[in-house]
Amino acid sequence: MVTFPTHRPRRLRRNKLIRDSVAETTLAVERLIVPLFVRDGASEPEPIPSMPGVSRFPIDYLSKVVQSDLDLGLRNFILFGIPSYKDDLASSAYAKDGVIQRSLRQLRETFGDKILLYADECTDEYTAHGHCGIVRRSGQGYVVDNDESLRVHANIALSQAEAGADVIAPSSMMDGVVGAIRRALDQNGFQETAIMAYSAKYASTFYSPFRDAAYSKPAFGDRRSYQMDPRNGAEAIREVALDIEEGADMVMVKPAHTYLDVVRSVKEAFPSYPLVAYHVSGEYSLLKAAAMNGWIDERTAVLEVTTAIARAGADMIITYYAEQLAKWIREGVPF
Ligand code: PBG
Repeated sequence: MVTFPTHRPRRLRRNKLIRDSVAETTLAVERLIVPLFVRDGASEPEPIPSMPGVSRFPIDYLSKVVQSDLDLGLRNFILFGIPSYKDDLASSAYAKDGVIQRSLRQLRETFGDKILLYADECTDEYTAHGHCGIVRRSGQGYVVDNDESLRVHANIALSQAEAGADVIAPSSMMDGVVGAIRRALDQNGFQETAIMAYSAKYASTFYSPFRDAAYSKPAFGDRRSYQMDPRNGAEAIREVALDIEEGADMVMVKPAHTYLDVVRSVKEAFPSYPLVAYHVSGEYSLLKAAAMNGWIDERTAVLEVTTAIARAGADMIITYYAEQLAKWIREGVPF
């Protein structure tokens, strides 16, 4: 048997102290982004059946949630709204007293600059048809009119910035949406408001629980004409390049767990841009369901998955496990 006396990887795996000392990847609580669902008119938190452990909150309840998250060291929050009414123009998405606008104002007033507020910018939760843009008739069917949609997206972004968002997060995948938002923000005095672009967002079945949570399932058709094809990896680089050109400050790959190769290649292509990975609802629910059945150890599995997302190259992670992760990180990883 050949031996290599100078090269013995096991020396650095001998015990936890040495493993912790040489580990290449460290999860940090300040790198996590907490997704919060806010429902206009709700009076109590409403548990979401397909996402055990996650609820929709009434606006008045948000401060309590954010305070307890702050106590855990979490400071990044992305808000998703469920409005009191929907129409074809998504007008409840840019109303001054819309659910997200009121939530942003209230949180800003309560917490000042102790937290960073991200606003998901889309139309699907605010339109009866549930698409990420403006829909018009075309022949026998309907199409999402990309260019018509840009003005609406810019209006939504502007109203979110006015209400106090630090970061606008366009999730529609409309071509040119980042540039349209950047121009609207700059022309209206919001040069300091950042854009986190959902740049490489795939048409994924792993969003299904989210659509239950936010009542945003498309009433007809699907999102495959504007979200990315799961078969494409190199195309993600093009999508990210376009968003950077249009003014994105941070870029995103979504989903995360299923697209680790894309996370890695985007990080390698654009190492100087903060990269966010979204561990999405279906990826959360898979882990949760297995854990609830006693098939996996939840803490170890979630830490392994989220560490893998960071190892692949994500600088920040949006995850429904943020609160539990904050506690688990504090206790120390089990590796
Ligand atoms: C669109 C949006 C979606 C998600 C975030 N923003 C749904 C979609 O594109 O259908 C999904 C997030 C998740 O599944 O956790 N506003």
